Amino acid sequence: MTSVGQGIDRADARAKVRGEAQYAADTPVAGLVHAFVVTSALGHGRVTAIDASAARTVPGVLAVITPDNAPRVPGATKKKVSFDRILQVVQDADVRYADQPIAVVVADTPERARAAGEALVVSYAPSPIAVSLAQNEAAGRKPAKAGPRAEPDSSRGDFAGALASAAVKVEQTYTTSIQHHHPMELHGTIAVWQGNDALTLYDATQGVFPCRERLAGAFDLPPEKVRVISHYVGGGFGCKGSAWSHVALAALAARVVKRPVKLVLTRQQVCSLVGYRPRTIQHVTLAAAKDGQLRAMRHDVISETSRFDEFVEPSGLVTRMLYACPNVTTTHRVVELDVPTPTFTRAPGEATGNFALEVALDELAYELGVDPVELRLKNYAEHDEDENKPWSSKSLRECYRRAAEQFGWRHRRPLPGSQREQHLLVGWGMATASYPARQSAASARVKRDRDGNFVVQAGTQDIGTGTYTILAQIAADALGVAVERVRVEIGDTALPETPVSGGSQTASSTGSAVKRAAEALKQKLDALSASDRSADTELVAELKTEEKPDRKRFSTHGFGAQFVEVKVDPDLGVVRVTRAVSAFATGKILNVKTARSQFMGGMVWGIGLALLEHSRRDERSGRIVTRDLADYHVPVNADVPELEVIMLNELDPHVNEIGAKGIGEIGITGMPAAIANAVYHATGKRVRELPITLDKLL
Ligand code: MOS
Repeated sequence: MTSVGQGIDRADARAKVRGEAQYAADTPVAGLVHAFVVTSALGHGRVTAIDASAARTVPGVLAVITPDNAPRVPGATKKKVSFDRILQVVQDADVRYADQPIAVVVADTPERARAAGEALVVSYAPSPIAVSLAQNEAAGRKPAKAGPRAEPDSSRGDFAGALASAAVKVEQTYTTSIQHHHPMELHGTIAVWQGNDALTLYDATQGVFPCRERLAGAFDLPPEKVRVISHYVGGGFGCKGSAWSHVALAALAARVVKRPVKLVLTRQQVCSLVGYRPRTIQHVTLAAAKDGQLRAMRHDVISETSRFDEFVEPSGLVTRMLYACPNVTTTHRVVELDVPTPTFTRAPGEATGNFALEVALDELAYELGVDPVELRLKNYAEHDEDENKPWSSKSLRECYRRAAEQFGWRHRRPLPGSQREQHLLVGWGMATASYPARQSAASARVKRDRDGNFVVQAGTQDIGTGTYTILAQIAADALGVAVERVRVEIGDTALPETPVSGGSQTASSTGSAVKRAAEALKQKLDALSASDRSADTELVAELKTEEKPDRKRFSTHGFGAQFVEVKVDPDLGVVRVTRAVSAFATGKILNVKTARSQFMGGMVWGIGLALLEHSRRDERSGRIVTRDLADYHVPVNADVPELEVIMLNELDPHVNEIGAKGIGEIGITGMPAAIANAVYHATGKRVRELPITLDKLL
């Protein structure tokens, strides 16, 4: 029996539920002391003085590090790759955003470090501050890229001409708000210097190798002198995808006190130091012929970034490829504000952009008087009209059919407000989901152990997605052995090099390398004579896989269809999601149990995006005021119905070695629109601003 596809339990499940899994900040290191980051109460300006006299009297204080005495970090503001971040590591007195690092205090316990940090008396010289995206929309400029590779603007056909002659139009503005990732495991780093020129970091990161490169760059060290270890990660969602200032501050503090230093962010600091999903303002125009055929589409996206670094929420990319339409224009603009740099947040671009696109389509369906599913089928893209390539595989029709059937969509009464259950308004909505299937170069090593079992080694990390488990399954099948005979070692730059665990690419990238390495080892084993095979010889295969050359001929995407029922209390404006059925076609399913968990996680996040999650920024101070999990609302059990997930197993020989498209992010992408569309169906009220809180419905 093959292992891939089976819903086997997570390899790390027991360690996690027993509390034995060692997260970065749990690592026992001899002689450890603790750092606390002191952040700015001012949103823009300069620190004019820091009085540390009281802080220095706190027992156990070892160092108060400010711009006056901090060692230089020569590469703090040098980016090598786009997802490197410009770091604020107390090199100068400038305050570029609220709650920016301005000092670091080191003490023998975390409590004393924090007490001393809070005892610093800081004087500021304020400058004018601008943090409102809406008020500064006109200041938008064209960014270098939208997303990792795409051009910010695109155009095919003649949008304006087609719009002028189209029978039916929808022209609307959609907005989404700031979200913070808030992983359960707070960001934490333990920095240990070996002399002055070698550094070991235990770090909560989605990418040990990118973290190594960034820290080596910051401190002007050769990368091989930096080792990053991350065996377990308690959620990433993008905010652990880049090495942020606190990682360098831990290393800086360790250098000053000449001892290993642990630095863990507070829940509040997560709101300013590790990125966020930026606000977006999205102008969408759709035009169609009377029969529903799309004639013209336009999607203009404005998002916020900092004044010193660039992150673009690439919300318009999905509009380029999701439907067949001859005349399509998209643009991305960024507005620089006195804010920290935003970053990737689960399905960056698709989660926000697909909300705008799929609500606009729903509006068009009502304008035309056609069923929303019919409208999507009518405009089904038989190939990627943006890249002008065939799909490597696409089973979206099957997704619509299966999900609609399970949901019972055919019983829908189309008129808004026409479905009731006692005093509650019942609404049904749907949306398409999609996410690119990415692959990056990756390396892996597979060894036969002395006891005859096998070890998979790759630097990659498991951010809770199931990497430990699926890599064992992939190797077991390639070796032709039971999965119990494969052990997986990951999360260490001492192991073969792999990419960041972001963009839903880990199975595709590292999984492909593991498969090929295991196949190579199997060949070596098969070539041995029976006596040699059992002999006590070490057997190793290590190799690097590049992006599958075949892929270049195709457009590679996962697709899905998401159907939602909501019940709205017309007196209170409260929206409850009461049913959610999603069907996904994302290539081969490697493990039905971990895959279902990923899809459901995305769907839950989609409920949060639609109804709850909203970081509020005070426009005078620039500070986030919803800074804990009491004020920042995420879906809890009471907000989430039983989630129904249909997983289509797609055969895709082109996408990569293992045929899996990536599943970590797609589950979120259709939910916000499906929910917003269901709310309209229930109430007749179209909310174009997320989250859909009760004030917008009353
Ligand atoms: Mo994910 S936003 O690609 O970490």
